[in-house]
Amino acid sequence: MADLDTKPRPGASRRDFLRGSGLAAASAVISGPARAALDEAAAEAREAQDAVPVLSGQVKITLKVNGQERHTTVEPRSTLLDTLRHRLDVTGPKRVCDRGSCGACTTLVDGAPVYSCTTLAVSCQGKTIETLESFDTGPEGVPHAFHQNDGLMCGYCTPGFVTACKALLDRNPHPTLEEVKQGLNGNICRCGTYVGVLKAALAAAKSMKGA
Ligand code: FES
Ligand code: FES
Repeated sequence: MADLDTKPRPGASRRDFLRGSGLAAASAVISGPARAALDEAAAEAREAQDAVPVLSGQVKITLKVNGQERHTTVEPRSTLLDTLRHRLDVTGPKRVCDRGSCGACTTLVDGAPVYSCTTLAVSCQGKTIETLESFDTGPEGVPHAFHQNDGLMCGYCTPGFVTACKALLDRNPHPTLEEVKQGLNGNICRCGTYVGVLKAALAAAKSMKGA
């Protein structure tokens, strides 16, 4: 049995004393197989930590944007939104709130709508990135439906709505009004053009059906 020194040392704080005596007590009661298992788990945790590459400085990345391989250099903390707009000159996704609450920056990553202002660019390597620059602008496309149904006023939110709408129709080409509302509920329009937006989404579904 370990000899536990329970007297506080001069200069040691009460917190240090409690922490030290707690560890000593734990060491005293954990022995044999339990100790071996703990050591093994600690070694595995250290190995896992060492295996995660720590990125720093400028990192070269390649992103597949709108069907093209784009090469650039970013800081590891750079968001997809910043990288698209400021490094690759892809300005469809808009910065409005910049904190994942309005949806103006919505971008498709592997077909799913994401807030690009809260997505790291480095995490998008090897994935397919689509912005509204690549969408069909003809009479059967979503942008046209927004134009025809007054789905915008100032337009700040519109790229995000169009992108979210495209994602919805890609996975559900025949949505009900309720499904459209749910599909677009990650986007906010401060001008309040929701009536036009919903009409546009249903109209886009209809014209895509007729295609
Ligand atoms: S700018 Fe990304 S959610 Fe608002
Ligand atoms: S049209 Fe102005 S914020 Fe939506």
